[in-house]
Order: sequence, then C-alpha cells, then structure tokens
Amino acid sequence: MHRLEDDTPERELPTLSQLITAAAATLARAGVASPRVDAELLAAHVLGVPRSRLLTAAVTGPQAGELERLVARRAAREPLQHLTGTAPFYGLELAVGPGVFIPRFETELLVEWALKQPARRVVDLCSGSGAIAVAFATRRPEAEVHCVERSERALPWLRENVARLAPAVRVVEADVSDESVLSDISGTVDLLLCNPPYVPEATPVDVEVAEHDPHDAVFAGDDGLALMPAIARTAARLLRPGGRLAIEHDDTQGESLPELLRGTGLFTVVEDHRDLAGRPRFVTANRGDQHRG
Ligand SMILES: C[S@@+](CC[C@H](N)C(=O)[O-])C[C@H]1O[C@@H](n2cnc3c(N)ncnc32)[C@H](O)[C@@H]1O
Repeated sequence: MHRLEDDTPERELPTLSQLITAAAATLARAGVASPRVDAELLAAHVLGVPRSRLLTAAVTGPQAGELERLVARRAAREPLQHLTGTAPFYGLELAVGPGVFIPRFETELLVEWALKQPARRVVDLCSGSGAIAVAFATRRPEAEVHCVERSERALPWLRENVARLAPAVRVVEADVSDESVLSDISGTVDLLLCNPPYVPEATPVDVEVAEHDPHDAVFAGDDGLALMPAIARTAARLLRPGGRLAIEHDDTQGESLPELLRGTGLFTVVEDHRDLAGRPRFVTANRGDQHRG
C-alpha cells in the first residue's frame, strides 16, 4: 500500500493489483465479454506500460482516478478501443475512435490470404480505418495500394493511419458503387480486397457494436448482401483478366455470396474460406477472361 499524493493523504491507495481485480469485477457485472483482459489493458494504457509489465508497475493517485473513470465508461459499454484510442491489427496499432469501424481479428485471415498472392497493384474497397490496405502495404512496400472509403467520419482516421504507417497508399473518398470510382486504373488491378458492411439488419449485436460502430459500416439490408452486387461490378471493372478478389462476409453467407458472384458470369474459381472456428468467412474469385466470362 502507498498513499494518495493529492488532497487526501490519509486515505490508503489500493495496489495496482487490487485496482485491476476491482475493475474486472465491475466490468464482469456490466456484461463485458473479457473483463479481466479489458481491466488490464485499461490499466496498461493509463500507466503507459505494456500489459506484460503490469506486475512490476506502481500506480499514482491521479492514475488510479483516471483508471476508475475509464472503467466506468467501459462498464457503460464504450468499446475498449475507443478508450485506448488504438486497435491492434496484424501487428500494427491503428488509430480508431468514434465514427470509424473497429478492425476485427477475423479480417487478419483475409490479409494473410492476400499476402500470398502475387500482386503489384492492389485495391481495398470499404477501407474504414485502413486496416487491410495499411497491413498489406507495410508488408509489401513495393506494391501500389489504393483504398476507397465513403464515410466523412471514417476518412480522418483512415488518413491518419495511412500517413503514419503507410504514406504511399492512395486514399480516395468515394462510394464503391460509383461507376467511375478509380476509373484511372480500370482493368489493371491485380488484387481487390474488401471487408464491406455485411451483417443482416435483424442480427442481434453487442452494445458496443450497436451503439458505437457506425450503422452503415456494419449492416447491409435484410440479408446483409445489399452492397455486394455493386462491389462485384466495381471489382469486375477494376480487375485485370485473371486478377483476384477477396470479400469478407457474414457466416450466413458462405453459399449465397459465392452464388451471387458466380451469377454475374464475371468470375471464375469462386471459392469460400473458413475461419479458425470453421465458420464461412471470406470468398475469393478470379476475374474471368473477358471473352470466356
Ligand atoms: C465493415 S467496415 C470495414 C472497414 C475495414 N475495411 C476493416 O476491415 O476494418 C465497412 C466500411 O465500409 C464503408 N462503406 C459502407 N458503404 C460504403 C460505400 N457504399 N462506399 C464506400 N465505403 C462504404 C463504411 O464506412 C466502413 O468504413
């Protein structure tokens, strides 16, 4: 135990370990899915140390107060990443906050697949924080990466992440269904990546998603496929013959999205891929030869 250093010198300050245990209990009562991890990550954020160093760290009075305030906000189900200001993705720390979709771990699978493809010119549609574009560009600096995002609230986060982590990436503010988007590179793209909004509207989601992820970053009509025909059209126009695409999707769309792509007659080798839990997660396809479809 040590003492508060501000105006209450007589009050004993709990140890960091006691503060974390109490925070985890508060978060558990609030229904937070991973209360202990979140409590530790908030403490690490406040103390400015990696989570692995918490055992040997000491806490000051003002830090204890700050931790208490952040735990109260997390208990009200503000996303952890909004409180720390960052989201981990593919070994990077992306800046995130209100107005931008928080990148998810599952999307790393799509990036992993993408990094196995030979590609010089790459497009990321529906780029959000830039997770896919930035992760790809940092691993493949020789590639030319373009990304497209429509949301005025997401774009400042995207631009910040690109400027800090992968400044050569080109950011384009546009709707992916616009027939002229990236028209200067039509027919020349080797690889097109996309994690679009795909959740069916009636799907129950956590409070953090319902209240803090932008609605049109997550949901896309009754079946979640509302934006897919436009993405397929734009992808077909941008890709060179034989170029490849990958689109992440909801686990209910492992048959419907491949079917939708086959139905356009524009793609060949349409294959669905599962995540580590065995759930359908993303579809890949080749841009068919212009004449053979
Ligand atoms: C599920 S989030 C994915 C963000 C990022 N790619 C990732 O994996 O973290 C979908 C993104 O698509 C954007 N979006 C939705 N509709 C769009 C449209 N018609 N044109 C361009 N962007 C769109 C949203 O603003 C959001 O940033």
